[in-house]
Amino acid sequence: MSINLKGYTVLITGGSSGMGYEMARKLLSHGATVIISARNEAKLDKAYKQLSSEGLDVYAVPIDVSDEKSVTEAVAWFEKHFDHLDMLINNAGIGSNAPGMENLESNHHFYDIPIASVKAIVETNFIGYFIVSSKFVPLMVKNGRGSLIYVSTSTNTMTRKGQLPYGPSKAGAEAMAKIMAEELRDLGIMVNVICPGGFTDTGMAGTGVKEFFQKNNMEILQPTVMNKAILFLASSDSKGMTGEKIIANDFDEWLKNKGIEFDN
Ligand SMILES: NC(=O)c1ccc[n+]([C@@H]2O[C@H](COP(=O)([O-])OP(=O)(O)OC[C@H]3O[C@@H](n4cnc5c(N)ncnc54)[C@H](OP(=O)(O)O)[C@@H]3O)[C@@H](O)[C@H]2O)c1
Repeated sequence: MSINLKGYTVLITGGSSGMGYEMARKLLSHGATVIISARNEAKLDKAYKQLSSEGLDVYAVPIDVSDEKSVTEAVAWFEKHFDHLDMLINNAGIGSNAPGMENLESNHHFYDIPIASVKAIVETNFIGYFIVSSKFVPLMVKNGRGSLIYVSTSTNTMTRKGQLPYGPSKAGAEAMAKIMAEELRDLGIMVNVICPGGFTDTGMAGTGVKEFFQKNNMEILQPTVMNKAILFLASSDSKGMTGEKIIANDFDEWLKNKGIEFDN
């Protein structure tokens, strides 16, 4: 039977494009109320209008996850419009598309990376996840339930050559998710990590990297790759599950290994 998420409220950071947009659309199509957020208001509005025109229960609020004031204002806006938050998806991220990274040669060394780019990536992918979690999770604590999702990357990307500072920023975020899972376990809040499991064709993916993958016949994942896993995490089938990492592209295998049936 199709999962019905009516009354289930989700806030997703970085919901204006790529995997965030597709996860939002998937949850919306199952009846959830979804608030998408991002920095670029024109792009966010376009995404909002598209989803809204499909008759979905979508809202949009601009957020810069690296800016405490912006996140605090978003919490105030949220509390004015909604009385509970079921799921928070920490998805907003930057990497090779961060300011100052675009001009680097593909075989650059870490010492070629502008420090401002390093700061921007860490402030978005690590500190941003912390700010958003620390400001929104208290709403879940108040209700005694909730699901906190961290969008991460494959483990080998965290330490692979050429992946500074993106890889370590995600490794740090995953470690943070583990700690939060333990701290929130007894408060009824689940914390889980998902990642696509490979190079995915989104706004973050530089054209040079895409061409390299195409030329070498390497697999390119589609931005819908996370949809089945995020639906599972929003469904009652995942109730009580915490501290897990799901690789979306291998999700069916993961379900099989856990002995879980989930066909949606
Ligand atoms: N694509 C891949 O191959 C891949 C692989 C593994 C993991 N991931 C992860 O997947 C997540 C989603 O990325 P994507 O690949 O779907 O790329 P994307 O299409 O570029 O989406 C990134 C989203 O994050 C938003 N964003 C960036 N910085 C932000 C900030 N400071 N505050 C709020 N929103 C911000 C962007 O909108 P604005 O720019 O308007 O803010 C956009 O909506 C990221 O965490 C990324 O690290 C991607």
